[in-house]
Amino acid sequence: MILNQKIDLPILNKKDVSLYIKREDLIHPLISGNKFRKLKYNLVQLKAQGKNQLVTFGGAYSNHIAATAYAGNLKGVKTLGIIRGEELQYIWKENPTLEKAASNGMQFRFVSREAYKAAHRHVLLEALREEIGDFYYLPEGGTNALAVRGCEEILTKDDSEFDIISCPVGTGGTIAGLINAASPQQMILGFPALKEDFLMEDICKFVENSNWKLCREYHFGGYAKVNHELVCFINEWSEKHALPLDPVYTGKMIFGLIDLIGKDYFKPKTKILAIHTGGLQGIHGMNQYLQKKNLPLLSI
Ligand SMILES: Cc1ncc(COP(=O)(O)O)c(C=O)c1O
Repeated sequence: MILNQKIDLPILNKKDVSLYIKREDLIHPLISGNKFRKLKYNLVQLKAQGKNQLVTFGGAYSNHIAATAYAGNLKGVKTLGIIRGEELQYIWKENPTLEKAASNGMQFRFVSREAYKAAHRHVLLEALREEIGDFYYLPEGGTNALAVRGCEEILTKDDSEFDIISCPVGTGGTIAGLINAASPQQMILGFPALKEDFLMEDICKFVENSNWKLCREYHFGGYAKVNHELVCFINEWSEKHALPLDPVYTGKMIFGLIDLIGKDYFKPKTKILAIHTGGLQGIHGMNQYLQKKNLPLLSI
């Protein structure tokens, strides 16, 4: 049973809104939050197909890469990550996410940003099949129908008391699972970490219900972009509530929720459940970047 942590803040009392955080981050330090949910049925399927090799895609600091490597190691499955950025082949050992994934047995292929684009991925996959034989393919971010099925298990019967369920959005798999599992009277609010516009289509592939919305104003300039205000918000929050947030996903979602509460977006008496989707391993890599930019560091 995952804890729903109640948040105590003056703004919540003032607006008569309650906020709880579902601590999916506590499932595991690396296979945390939505990663555990997404990998669960995919690993069952991989075994059912008699395969022992998994190939997936990810960026340099990807939580999905970190989790897949760890889970593969645990389950005796060979993992190979196709990583965005050729330049990383010379410096990947300085990258905490890739270094940890390698220590969990993941092999890498570093490819150019052009070759990495979704439209070109089949070329990479075909070449890889020639080279290493058959494998189980898991798309970027771990999102596919089985991942969505796993994410449907984030919500339990007891969560039906909430009016709003919120989550961060990357590839759309997590929100799709929540939409499928929620009751019709609940509203699912997604906070995209990306500036781009393609998410609606991706989410619609997996859902039929229409009780959901994306709040697009809280990406802070785009994927993995942060500023002084966000870093200070995350540090203050984790100290005050003993609740760490990551800067790419959950930090932006909670910042957005608090901002919306302040702007009377929610009616008095609204009960909000925000899903903590994990991703805390990414803080180490982000701190390397913040240090170079002379910005305050995230506390760990
Ligand atoms: C910690 C964390 N939260 C949220 C997301 C977004 O989930 P999804 O890609 O299913 O939209 C990701 C990326 O997959 C993530 O790593």
